Amino acid sequence: MRTGGSKAFFIHTFGCQMNQADSGIITAILQQEGYSAAESEVDAGIILLNTCAVRENAVDRIEHYLQHLHGLKKRHKGLIVGLAGCVPQFQKEEMFSMFPVIDFLAGPDTYRTLPLLIEQARIGLRSSSLDFNPLETYEGIDPVRQGPLSAFVPVMRGCNNMCAFCVVPFTRGRERSHPLSSVISEVRQLVESGYREITLLGQNVNSYCEPEKGTDFATLLDAVSREAPDARIRFTTSHPKDISEALVRVIADRPNICNHIHLPVQSGSSKMLGLMNRGHTIEEYRQKIALIREKIPGVAITTDIIAGFCGEEESDHQATLDLLTDVRFDLAYMFYYSERPGTLAARTLEDDLPESLKKRRLQEIIDLQNSISDKLYQEAVGTVVEVLAESESRRSAQQLMGRTDTNRVVVFDREHYKAGDLLKVRITSSTSATLIGKPDQRADAAS
Ligand code: SAH
Ligand code: SF4
Ligand code: F3S
Repeated sequence: MRTGGSKAFFIHTFGCQMNQADSGIITAILQQEGYSAAESEVDAGIILLNTCAVRENAVDRIEHYLQHLHGLKKRHKGLIVGLAGCVPQFQKEEMFSMFPVIDFLAGPDTYRTLPLLIEQARIGLRSSSLDFNPLETYEGIDPVRQGPLSAFVPVMRGCNNMCAFCVVPFTRGRERSHPLSSVISEVRQLVESGYREITLLGQNVNSYCEPEKGTDFATLLDAVSREAPDARIRFTTSHPKDISEALVRVIADRPNICNHIHLPVQSGSSKMLGLMNRGHTIEEYRQKIALIREKIPGVAITTDIIAGFCGEEESDHQATLDLLTDVRFDLAYMFYYSERPGTLAARTLEDDLPESLKKRRLQEIIDLQNSISDKLYQEAVGTVVEVLAESESRRSAQQLMGRTDTNRVVVFDREHYKAGDLLKVRITSSTSATLIGKPDQRADAAS
């Protein structure tokens, strides 16, 4: 038997913040049934992978991991392995024949059945629970949090968009919003427990629509920021077609809502945006950026880019590079296109670019964006920024790391500060992803 016993479980979480939040829900459900969270994989009698299917290499990583678990299970008879999240929802029972090591499959809407799936696995039954439940928001479950400072609060699940490249609508099902009252009571609880940062989560938060009164996201965000006036409020992800003037106004007006918007553009070419079914042109995107920058001075805008989508020509690629140069995003998550079976693109478009070309274009995008981030970060040298200290820096016990309200990572001398402190830091140097500095007491006193 493994050291933690047969009721000890360990979750490996892959993928987006939504999956991280779901792992907290899974932990709570299992703990309620008498299971306990193991410190590490070696202590666990049950290993759960909470998986992501968004790109082929994400799925490859999980398959690789399953091979490792196969070896582990040979040495530890009785070890139970479960696959949760987007991969089983997408590939269904096929996973059982591909990977004999798997004991059960659970989709994002069926986590309440996990204790049953585990019990069935114990008596040798391989079961799956993959139905969508458009009503499931895990109301009434108090998720177990990762740390004492920063918490995710999902406000909606699923996605009703059909971006041509994207598997999420098929893995997460129809969009549903959490009741405003339950979001607010979760936020209140977090405030009472001393949380300093709350991130509202959804695949497309701007389409939040309160199930009873139809309240929109701008109203919800405003209410959350008033409920937690001493905490930093963040949210992700915003779809450019749905970001409203009312939302921009709320961010500008409420001091504790962070001046950061993640606004995935995917491509700088209207032709590509059309093929991707994003529902807006690049001119409309640029207008939204102009509006955001006008109303929220100092705002940081970050984005996602896909290189080499179906039918992308050199001129479309150039349009993406031009957009990056013009907008100067603070940061971008950059990928090359990976066809996902069953998506709109897989059904209707030809994945016609060779991988070498996709990778070349991606590299050009990465090189350009890195040089832009580099310059933006250099421009911050000499300024004083407000930082929420999060943890010890990875490089030195004498330093802490934290973030600005624009979500930039700052590493600074520890002095007498500790995680959870909000302080002013004078920036003395930078790299393309980190600002480095020293606490600035004069600025502290002046604020
Ligand atoms: N809901 C979010 C995105 C979720 S997926 C939104 O609408 O922005 C996160 C990012 O993964 C996407 O923004 C996109 O840039 C990337 N992505 C999604 N599907 C992809 C695919 N098939 N190939 C490459 N990148 C993909
Ligand atoms: Fe995918 Fe588009 Fe939905 Fe985002 S908005 S999850 S990219 S379908
Ligand atoms: Fe991946 Fe599922 Fe999130 S596919 S990006 S874990 S919604």
